Amino acid sequence: MPGAAIAQIRADRATIDGADLIAFAGCNYLGLAHDARVLEAVRDASHRFGLSSSASRETSGNTPAHEELERGLVDFIAGHEVRTRGEIAGVLVPDGYTANLAAAQGLSDRHPLALVDRRAHASLADAARCAGMRVRFFEHREADDLRRALLGEASRAVVMTDGVFTADGAIAPIADMLAVLRDGDTLLIDDCHGFAVLGGGRGTCAHAGVNAVSERSRIVLTTTLAKGLGGGGGIVIGDSDWIRGVRTGSHAYVCTTPVSPIVAAGTVAALGILRDEPERLERLAANARRLRCAMGRADSPVPICAHAVADRPAGEALAARLHAAGLFVPAMAYPGGPTPWYLRASVTSEHDPAEIDRLAPIFGELHD
Ligand SMILES: Cc1ncc(COP(=O)(O)O)c(C=O)c1O
Repeated sequence: MPGAAIAQIRADRATIDGADLIAFAGCNYLGLAHDARVLEAVRDASHRFGLSSSASRETSGNTPAHEELERGLVDFIAGHEVRTRGEIAGVLVPDGYTANLAAAQGLSDRHPLALVDRRAHASLADAARCAGMRVRFFEHREADDLRRALLGEASRAVVMTDGVFTADGAIAPIADMLAVLRDGDTLLIDDCHGFAVLGGGRGTCAHAGVNAVSERSRIVLTTTLAKGLGGGGGIVIGDSDWIRGVRTGSHAYVCTTPVSPIVAAGTVAALGILRDEPERLERLAANARRLRCAMGRADSPVPICAHAVADRPAGEALAARLHAAGLFVPAMAYPGGPTPWYLRASVTSEHDPAEIDRLAPIFGELHD
């Protein structure tokens, strides 16, 4: 069953069944999906490109908007313009799910094994299986368990993890995981919730003090562009020679129609705002800390918080109670949660701090 149909939404508000609610839902962390400059770029591009490029980028579906987005993302994540130096490169794909598949297809010839964090996003294990890798799991965020698993294997492995975990915002111990890789292993980080959130927007590696450019022989990054950037598409970023192989060999890239060119153009505008307005990230981190405090959780700059419930009726009852107080916090059974059913609350840079505090009395009572 899909969630409630939302008649109208912006970063901090949703209209559901005729009620206007303060929204603590979704992943539009910087409010860019509704930014007037982004929407203006979408309108402009619609006159040039129409709704769809209607073919693979490798045939007749490539546009300047796709190329600008691809280059801009690589430069932003690297922290400098890289195209002339060829250190890392990126390949733009239709979405984040496909990014993991394209990355796995590019890695599978040299890595027969995938070792996946037990609570990583489902798309990672799906991608590994689809690319023909053998899949094993290691304990959630446990670098010691990962080390044991790697030592027990003869095959080269791709270690797969979320940078920031979707359901509860936990951060992967990237530096510890890199430390236990063997020669020839690769760390694939799905940074859908770390990109445009942590590390000055550059993501979980930057937050952990890990340089994705100098570690390019061991790290591959993927992310959606539909969350923190509020746009659309996905990207795989890694060593430029390896990316060249993904571009020629990955069916997930070669045989798909890219994200709509008008969405690509809007996403280019969103990336420009992320680059030029770092104060948004500061507001986001402050609101994240406020959210976690209101829900009785440990301090963190990640704008996601999960509240575990016993079962579906308990989740729906709590969501209904919040709804009656004018607050939208969805109950869900999305894979990777702390329990099969849970409430996932999120905030954006655009929330009024005083509105976040309205969660405190309800969640405070639940912890008593
Ligand atoms: C961690 C993670 N990876 C991958 C995806 C898939 O991204 P997309 O929705 O762009 O396909 C999502 C969410 O949708 C996600 O949360």
